[in-house]
Amino acid sequence: MKISIITVFPEFYQEFINTSLIGRAVENKIIEFNFIKLSDVTSPGQRIDEPVCGPGSGMIIKPEIWQKAIELCIKNYGDGTKIFFSPQGVKLTQPILKKLANKIYFKKNNNKKLEQKETFQNIAEQKSEELCDCHLILICARYEGIDPRVEQYYADYVISIGDYVLMGGDLPAQVFIESFLRLIPGVVGRAESVEKESFESPFLDYPEYGLPVEWNGLQIPDIVRSGNHAQIEKWRKEQAAQNTVYKRFDWFTASNPEKSDINLAKKFIPNHYVALMHNNILVEEDKEGHSSITSLDIHDIARSASTYGIKNYFVVSELEDQQKILSTFLGFWGGQEGKEYNKNRSQAVDIIIPTINLDQVIFHIEKESNIKPIIIATSAKISKFENKLIDYYSQGMIFEKKRPVLFLFGTGKGLSDNILDRCDYILLPINGMTDYNHLSVRSAAAIILDRWLGLNPNYLQSCIEK
Ligand SMILES: C[S@@+](CC[C@H](N)C(=O)[O-])C[C@H]1O[C@@H](n2cnc3c(N)ncnc32)[C@H](O)[C@@H]1O
Repeated sequence: MKISIITVFPEFYQEFINTSLIGRAVENKIIEFNFIKLSDVTSPGQRIDEPVCGPGSGMIIKPEIWQKAIELCIKNYGDGTKIFFSPQGVKLTQPILKKLANKIYFKKNNNKKLEQKETFQNIAEQKSEELCDCHLILICARYEGIDPRVEQYYADYVISIGDYVLMGGDLPAQVFIESFLRLIPGVVGRAESVEKESFESPFLDYPEYGLPVEWNGLQIPDIVRSGNHAQIEKWRKEQAAQNTVYKRFDWFTASNPEKSDINLAKKFIPNHYVALMHNNILVEEDKEGHSSITSLDIHDIARSASTYGIKNYFVVSELEDQQKILSTFLGFWGGQEGKEYNKNRSQAVDIIIPTINLDQVIFHIEKESNIKPIIIATSAKISKFENKLIDYYSQGMIFEKKRPVLFLFGTGKGLSDNILDRCDYILLPINGMTDYNHLSVRSAAAIILDRWLGLNPNYLQSCIEK
């Protein structure tokens, strides 16, 4: 496999390509590195860069310099897959790397979509005749970036290594080389050690320890040294699941987990509850009051709650006439007639518990779990309780507390300050790109439950093609 690098500073790579596993792969002739230094393709007295066109400061490398360098690279070392680096490119992730390795290095998958469950073992076991004659040409810009015409003309792939801006493409190239070469047979000794790392599955890696058994008063868990391989394997799987749920729940929900992965993750996701408040809500600006129960809210929130695994949905009203309406409603859907009419709706309504106030909701949850719930309120506007605000990536921080979670939804004009004051956290309001901000509570509940507990397989659908 050949890697050619076009750069202003080839000297950046000298230690990098001669050290550790990459150094060994070069020695073993698994990889060959070539360099084209941009200043070597200039005519005598010519600069590689010039000021950017139009107002503003900054320098940019001339398109003809890129052209000369790329054409020289092709002439000397043959054509190859041209990879540009830019903060505006496709963000590098393990699934994207695998997809690239499949497309660029392994012929087998040339025209196939990414097989998300493809393991390194599958890849490494392919016969050598299935390997492509692989040549990567990495183009590393500096200064203000790259003239977009050069990218448009030459780039097969444009890659970003993260949402921050570096001074040049050489560190991104090194990050890419190291992460890509890990997937190439013969570079990392044991395929197994690559396959078990974080981001190879819906779970991050489990914790690994080295001796001594006690260090600074901290112990290696007994189970790790028990010698019981089956128990150690089980413990590691659970630790990996717990790590992921607490540290990168976004990764878990984005990586198409299988049913067994979901069941394992659920061990570390506390019970969730929802309460819809018809008391302690604003009926006018600053005036607390009551609202009426509506069958749409009862039905639709029960169906959303069932979809996202909410344990119970408390419908809260202290008004007797409203309680009667609710009881008639639940009587119908809980009875034979309701079940026969529509068993899915009847099943959703099953998780509803009529309740008269927030204290009763908390009492119920505490009785069931022996611990008070964390109360997370929802609101359409940023209230005076700004210090309680959390976003939709805060699941790990909440789950780690190992307490049940209660979401509060308000009717009328929203939850009153008395209730917001009692909450531990308030979720950021949901906003579209308009000034209209009047979602129905059942729509808001569906959006919030999806953002908090929904599966969202986006990483694996990310498209690397230009
Ligand atoms: C200063 S940056 C140019 C940034 C560009 N003007 C922008 O804001 O999108 C110069 C070069 O560094 C490299 N670079 C910087 N940050 C990067 C990132 N996060 N991922 C990949 N390449 C990056 C690219 O090669 C880029 O052309």
